[in-house]
Amino acid sequence: MNVIEIKSITKYYKNIKALDGVSFSLEEGNILSLIGPNGSGKTTLTKIISGFSKANSGEIKIFGKNLDEFKKIKNKIGLVPQENNLDQDINVLENLIIHSELCGLNTKVAKERSLNLLQKFGLDKYVHEDTRNLSGGTKRKMMLIRALLTNPKLLILDEPTIGLDPAIRRQFWNIVIDLKSQNVSTIFTTHYMEEANFMADEIAFINRGKLILSGKPQDLIKNVLENFVFEMKEKVSIDGYKSYVYENKTFIFTPNKEILLSNLKLKGIEPSTIRETTLDDMFLYLTGEKI
Ligand SMILES: Nc1ncnc2c1ncn2[C@@H]1O[C@H](COP(=O)(O)OP(=O)(O)O)[C@@H](O)[C@H]1O
Ligand SMILES: [Mg+2]
Repeated sequence: MNVIEIKSITKYYKNIKALDGVSFSLEEGNILSLIGPNGSGKTTLTKIISGFSKANSGEIKIFGKNLDEFKKIKNKIGLVPQENNLDQDINVLENLIIHSELCGLNTKVAKERSLNLLQKFGLDKYVHEDTRNLSGGTKRKMMLIRALLTNPKLLILDEPTIGLDPAIRRQFWNIVIDLKSQNVSTIFTTHYMEEANFMADEIAFINRGKLILSGKPQDLIKNVLENFVFEMKEKVSIDGYKSYVYENKTFIFTPNKEILLSNLKLKGIEPSTIRETTLDDMFLYLTGEKI
Protein backbone atom coordinates (compact mmCIF):
# COMPACT_ATOMS: atom_id res chain seq x y z
CA MET A 1 0.00 0.00 0.00
CA ASN A 2 1.15 3.53 -0.75
CA VAL A 3 0.91 5.96 2.16
CA ILE A 4 1.57 8.93 -0.13
CA GLU A 5 0.48 9.24 -3.71
CA ILE A 6 1.09 12.51 -5.47
CA LYS A 7 0.40 13.33 -9.09
CA SER A 8 1.51 16.45 -10.96
CA ILE A 9 1.45 18.91 -8.09
CA THR A 10 2.08 22.51 -8.95
CA LYS A 11 2.45 25.29 -6.42
CA TYR A 12 2.84 29.01 -7.03
CA TYR A 13 3.73 31.74 -4.56
CA LYS A 14 2.41 34.70 -6.57
CA ASN A 15 4.47 34.36 -9.75
CA ILE A 16 7.13 32.02 -8.29
CA LYS A 17 6.62 28.42 -9.39
CA ALA A 18 7.84 26.56 -6.31
CA LEU A 19 6.66 23.11 -7.50
CA ASP A 20 6.32 22.16 -11.12
CA GLY A 21 4.44 18.93 -11.85
CA VAL A 22 5.82 16.82 -9.01
CA SER A 23 4.69 13.17 -8.86
CA PHE A 24 5.83 10.40 -6.54
CA SER A 25 4.60 7.75 -4.16
CA LEU A 26 5.83 6.33 -0.88
CA GLU A 27 5.23 2.72 0.03
CA GLU A 28 4.21 1.83 3.57
CA GLY A 29 7.21 1.23 5.85
CA ASN A 30 9.70 2.86 3.49
CA ILE A 31 11.99 5.83 4.01
CA LEU A 32 12.24 8.35 1.20
CA SER A 33 14.79 11.12 1.07
CA LEU A 34 14.16 14.28 -0.87
CA ILE A 35 17.40 15.96 -1.88
CA GLY A 36 17.85 19.32 -3.51
CA PRO A 37 19.59 22.67 -3.13
CA ASN A 38 18.14 25.67 -1.30
CA GLY A 39 14.99 26.96 -2.92
CA SER A 40 14.29 23.76 -4.85
CA GLY A 41 10.85 23.27 -3.26
CA LYS A 42 11.50 20.72 -0.49
CA THR A 43 9.83 22.67 2.32
CA THR A 44 6.90 23.57 0.11
CA LEU A 45 6.35 19.89 -0.69
CA THR A 46 6.54 18.82 2.97
CA LYS A 47 4.06 21.55 3.91
CA ILE A 48 1.60 20.40 1.28
CA ILE A 49 1.85 16.74 2.29
CA SER A 50 1.32 17.61 5.94
CA GLY A 51 -1.71 19.78 5.21
CA PHE A 52 -0.16 23.17 6.02
CA SER A 53 -0.24 24.46 2.48
CA LYS A 54 -2.37 23.83 -0.60
CA ALA A 55 -1.18 22.97 -4.07
CA ASN A 56 -2.61 24.97 -6.98
CA SER A 57 -3.16 21.83 -9.02
CA GLY A 58 -2.49 18.11 -8.96
CA GLU A 59 -3.70 15.17 -6.91
CA ILE A 60 -2.65 14.21 -3.40
CA LYS A 61 -3.64 11.11 -1.51
CA ILE A 62 -2.33 10.37 1.96
CA PHE A 63 -3.37 7.01 3.41
CA GLY A 64 -5.72 6.85 0.45
CA LYS A 65 -7.54 10.05 1.50
CA ASN A 66 -7.73 13.40 -0.24
CA LEU A 67 -6.52 16.36 1.78
CA ASP A 68 -10.09 17.65 2.16
CA GLU A 69 -10.54 14.70 4.52
CA PHE A 70 -7.41 15.76 6.32
CA LYS A 71 -8.98 15.73 9.80
CA LYS A 72 -9.37 11.96 9.54
CA ILE A 73 -5.66 11.40 8.98
CA LYS A 74 -4.12 14.35 10.84
CA ASN A 75 -3.01 12.30 13.84
CA LYS A 76 -1.48 9.63 11.61
CA ILE A 77 1.05 12.21 10.40
CA GLY A 78 3.96 13.47 12.50
CA LEU A 79 5.68 16.60 11.20
CA VAL A 80 9.05 18.06 12.13
CA PRO A 81 9.15 21.39 10.28
CA GLN A 82 12.39 23.00 9.16
CA GLU A 83 12.21 25.70 11.85
CA ASN A 84 11.74 24.76 15.50
CA ASN A 85 8.48 26.23 16.72
CA LEU A 86 8.45 25.17 20.35
CA ASP A 87 7.09 27.62 22.88
CA GLN A 88 10.26 28.98 24.47
CA ASP A 89 8.46 30.39 27.51
CA ILE A 90 7.23 27.12 28.99
CA ASN A 91 8.99 23.98 30.08
CA VAL A 92 9.60 20.80 28.13
CA LEU A 93 6.74 18.76 29.55
CA GLU A 94 4.28 21.64 29.19
CA ASN A 95 5.24 22.01 25.52
CA LEU A 96 4.54 18.36 24.86
CA ILE A 97 1.29 18.23 26.82
CA ILE A 98 -0.15 21.33 25.13
CA HIS A 99 0.66 19.89 21.72
CA SER A 100 -0.94 16.55 22.62
CA GLU A 101 -4.08 18.27 23.83
CA LEU A 102 -4.29 20.18 20.55
CA CYS A 103 -4.19 16.79 18.84
CA GLY A 104 -7.11 15.63 20.95
CA LEU A 105 -5.34 13.47 23.56
CA ASN A 106 -6.53 13.78 27.13
CA THR A 107 -4.10 15.24 29.64
CA LYS A 108 -3.41 11.98 31.44
CA VAL A 109 -2.49 10.11 28.24
CA ALA A 110 -0.56 13.16 27.01
CA LYS A 111 1.54 13.24 30.16
CA GLU A 112 2.20 9.50 30.11
CA ARG A 113 3.28 9.50 26.47
CA SER A 114 5.43 12.61 26.88
CA LEU A 115 7.28 11.16 29.85
CA ASN A 116 7.76 7.83 28.06
CA LEU A 117 9.19 9.45 24.97
CA LEU A 118 11.44 11.80 26.95
CA GLN A 119 12.84 8.78 28.76
CA LYS A 120 13.29 6.82 25.52
CA PHE A 121 15.22 9.72 24.00
CA GLY A 122 17.34 10.22 27.12
CA LEU A 123 15.77 13.62 27.81
CA ASP A 124 14.02 12.79 31.10
CA LYS A 125 16.41 15.06 32.98
CA TYR A 126 14.95 18.04 31.08
CA VAL A 127 11.28 17.41 31.94
CA HIS A 128 10.91 20.62 33.96
CA GLU A 129 13.62 22.62 32.16
CA ASP A 130 12.69 25.87 30.44
CA THR A 131 12.61 25.13 26.73
CA ARG A 132 14.72 28.18 25.89
CA ASN A 133 17.65 26.72 27.88
CA LEU A 134 17.94 23.58 25.72
CA SER A 135 20.73 23.10 23.18
CA GLY A 136 19.91 23.06 19.45
CA GLY A 137 20.26 19.27 19.31
CA THR A 138 17.94 18.75 22.27
CA LYS A 139 15.35 21.10 20.79
CA ARG A 140 15.47 19.11 17.54
CA LYS A 141 14.96 15.86 19.43
CA MET A 142 12.06 17.48 21.25
CA MET A 143 10.52 18.39 17.90
CA LEU A 144 10.74 14.73 16.94
CA ILE A 145 9.21 13.64 20.26
CA ARG A 146 6.40 16.14 19.72
CA ALA A 147 5.78 14.68 16.26
CA LEU A 148 5.58 11.18 17.77
CA LEU A 149 3.01 11.95 20.47
CA THR A 150 0.07 10.71 18.42
CA ASN A 151 1.88 7.48 17.37
CA PRO A 152 1.93 8.57 13.71
CA LYS A 153 2.23 6.09 10.84
CA LEU A 154 3.86 8.68 8.57
CA LEU A 155 6.72 10.96 9.58
CA ILE A 156 7.55 14.07 7.58
CA LEU A 157 10.91 15.53 8.56
CA ASP A 158 12.13 18.74 6.95
CA GLU A 159 15.93 19.00 7.31
CA PRO A 160 15.63 17.31 10.70
CA THR A 161 19.34 17.03 11.42
CA ILE A 162 20.72 20.26 10.00
CA GLY A 163 23.30 21.73 12.35
CA LEU A 164 23.35 18.68 14.64
CA ASP A 165 26.63 17.08 15.58
CA PRO A 166 27.27 13.61 14.16
CA ALA A 167 26.57 11.73 17.42
CA ILE A 168 23.16 13.31 17.88
CA ARG A 169 22.41 12.89 14.18
CA ARG A 170 23.14 9.19 14.57
CA GLN A 171 20.81 8.92 17.60
CA PHE A 172 18.12 10.73 15.67
CA TRP A 173 18.35 8.31 12.75
CA ASN A 174 18.43 5.27 15.03
CA ILE A 175 15.03 6.34 16.27
CA VAL A 176 13.69 6.61 12.71
CA ILE A 177 15.12 3.17 11.85
CA ASP A 178 13.48 1.75 14.96
CA LEU A 179 10.14 3.25 13.88
CA LYS A 180 10.58 1.74 10.43
CA SER A 181 10.68 -1.67 12.07
CA GLN A 182 7.19 -0.81 13.39
CA ASN A 183 6.09 -0.04 9.82
CA VAL A 184 6.21 3.74 10.20
CA SER A 185 6.90 5.41 6.83
CA THR A 186 9.18 8.45 6.64
CA ILE A 187 9.88 11.18 4.15
CA PHE A 188 12.78 13.49 4.97
CA THR A 189 14.55 16.31 3.22
CA THR A 190 18.27 16.80 3.53
CA HIS A 191 21.37 18.46 2.15
CA TYR A 192 23.53 15.61 3.37
CA MET A 193 23.97 13.16 0.52
CA GLU A 194 25.66 10.52 2.70
CA GLU A 195 22.73 10.67 5.14
CA ALA A 196 20.27 10.05 2.33
CA ASN A 197 22.41 7.25 1.00
CA PHE A 198 22.56 5.30 4.22
CA MET A 199 19.06 6.04 5.55
CA ALA A 200 16.76 5.98 2.57
CA ASP A 201 15.10 3.10 0.73
CA GLU A 202 14.50 5.57 -2.02
CA ILE A 203 16.01 8.89 -3.02
CA ALA A 204 14.34 11.62 -5.05
CA PHE A 205 16.31 14.53 -6.49
CA ILE A 206 14.47 17.83 -6.72
CA ASN A 207 15.70 20.91 -8.52
CA ARG A 208 13.86 24.15 -9.31
CA GLY A 209 10.53 22.62 -8.30
CA LYS A 210 10.90 19.52 -10.48
CA LEU A 211 11.56 15.95 -9.41
CA ILE A 212 14.34 15.00 -11.74
CA LEU A 213 15.09 11.42 -10.75
CA SER A 214 14.16 8.89 -8.12
CA GLY A 215 15.09 5.35 -7.23
CA LYS A 216 16.94 3.13 -4.79
CA PRO A 217 20.29 4.69 -3.85
CA GLN A 218 22.25 1.65 -5.03
CA ASP A 219 20.49 1.66 -8.42
CA LEU A 220 20.65 5.36 -9.18
CA ILE A 221 24.31 5.54 -10.12
CA LYS A 222 24.33 2.36 -12.12
CA ASN A 223 21.18 3.34 -14.03
CA VAL A 224 22.43 6.78 -15.00
CA LEU A 225 26.23 6.91 -14.80
CA GLU A 226 29.22 4.59 -14.61
CA ASN A 227 31.01 3.39 -11.49
CA PHE A 228 34.16 5.48 -11.86
CA VAL A 229 34.82 9.13 -12.50
CA PHE A 230 38.02 10.79 -13.76
CA GLU A 231 38.56 14.42 -12.83
CA MET A 232 40.66 16.68 -15.01
CA LYS A 233 41.78 20.19 -14.18
CA GLU A 234 41.04 21.49 -17.68
CA LYS A 235 38.30 21.30 -20.29
CA VAL A 236 38.68 18.05 -22.17
CA SER A 237 36.43 16.59 -24.83
CA ILE A 238 36.49 12.87 -25.50
CA ASP A 239 33.92 11.00 -27.55
CA GLY A 240 31.91 8.03 -26.36
CA TYR A 241 31.85 8.84 -22.64
CA LYS A 242 29.35 10.53 -20.38
CA SER A 243 30.95 13.68 -19.03
CA TYR A 244 30.37 17.22 -17.86
CA VAL A 245 32.37 20.36 -17.26
CA TYR A 246 31.98 22.28 -14.01
CA GLU A 247 34.07 25.33 -13.07
CA ASN A 248 36.57 24.48 -15.81
CA LYS A 249 37.07 20.96 -14.52
CA THR A 250 36.05 17.98 -16.64
CA PHE A 251 34.46 14.88 -15.14
CA ILE A 252 34.40 11.74 -17.30
CA PHE A 253 32.54 8.56 -16.29
CA THR A 254 33.61 5.04 -17.15
CA PRO A 255 32.94 1.44 -16.18
CA ASN A 256 36.55 0.56 -17.07
CA LYS A 257 39.40 2.61 -15.61
CA GLU A 258 42.20 1.01 -17.64
CA ILE A 259 40.64 1.65 -21.06
CA LEU A 260 39.86 5.30 -20.31
CA LEU A 261 43.31 5.80 -18.84
CA SER A 262 45.00 4.52 -22.01
CA ASN A 263 42.62 6.60 -24.22
CA LEU A 264 43.57 9.69 -22.27
CA LYS A 265 47.27 8.84 -22.43
CA LEU A 266 47.07 8.71 -26.23
CA LYS A 267 45.83 12.29 -26.10
CA GLY A 268 48.51 13.27 -23.61
CA ILE A 269 45.95 13.97 -20.87
CA GLU A 270 46.60 13.12 -17.24
CA PRO A 271 43.61 12.87 -14.83
CA SER A 272 44.08 14.67 -11.50
CA THR A 273 41.81 12.24 -9.62
CA ILE A 274 40.26 8.84 -10.29
CA ARG A 275 37.54 7.77 -7.86
CA GLU A 276 34.17 6.06 -7.45
CA THR A 277 31.11 7.93 -8.67
CA THR A 278 28.99 9.46 -5.91
CA LEU A 279 25.43 10.76 -5.67
CA ASP A 280 26.88 14.29 -5.67
CA ASP A 281 28.31 13.57 -9.13
CA MET A 282 24.88 12.41 -10.21
CA PHE A 283 23.19 15.58 -9.07
CA LEU A 284 25.79 17.77 -10.75
CA TYR A 285 25.63 15.70 -13.95
CA LEU A 286 21.84 15.92 -14.13
CA THR A 287 21.36 19.55 -13.11
CA GLY A 288 24.65 21.35 -13.64
CA GLU A 289 24.20 22.58 -10.06
CA LYS A 290 25.69 21.63 -6.72
CA ILE A 291 23.53 20.59 -3.79
N1 LIG B 1 5.94 31.84 1.66
C1 LIG B 1 6.59 32.04 0.50
N2 LIG B 1 6.33 33.14 -0.25
C2 LIG B 1 6.97 33.33 -1.44
N3 LIG B 1 7.89 32.50 -1.96
C3 LIG B 1 8.19 31.40 -1.24
C4 LIG B 1 7.56 31.11 0.01
N4 LIG B 1 8.07 29.94 0.49
C5 LIG B 1 8.96 29.52 -0.43
N5 LIG B 1 9.04 30.39 -1.47
C6 LIG B 1 9.87 30.24 -2.68
O1 LIG B 1 9.55 28.96 -3.25
C7 LIG B 1 10.71 28.31 -3.71
C8 LIG B 1 10.86 26.97 -2.96
O2 LIG B 1 11.13 27.22 -1.60
P1 LIG B 1 11.25 26.09 -0.51
O3 LIG B 1 10.12 25.16 -0.67
O4 LIG B 1 11.42 26.74 0.82
O5 LIG B 1 12.60 25.36 -0.95
P2 LIG B 1 13.66 24.50 -0.09
O6 LIG B 1 12.99 24.01 1.13
O7 LIG B 1 14.08 23.42 -1.04
O8 LIG B 1 14.80 25.41 0.24
C9 LIG B 1 11.86 29.27 -3.48
O9 LIG B 1 12.05 30.02 -4.66
C10 LIG B 1 11.35 30.16 -2.35
O10 LIG B 1 11.96 31.44 -2.41
MG1 LIG C 1 13.52 24.09 3.10
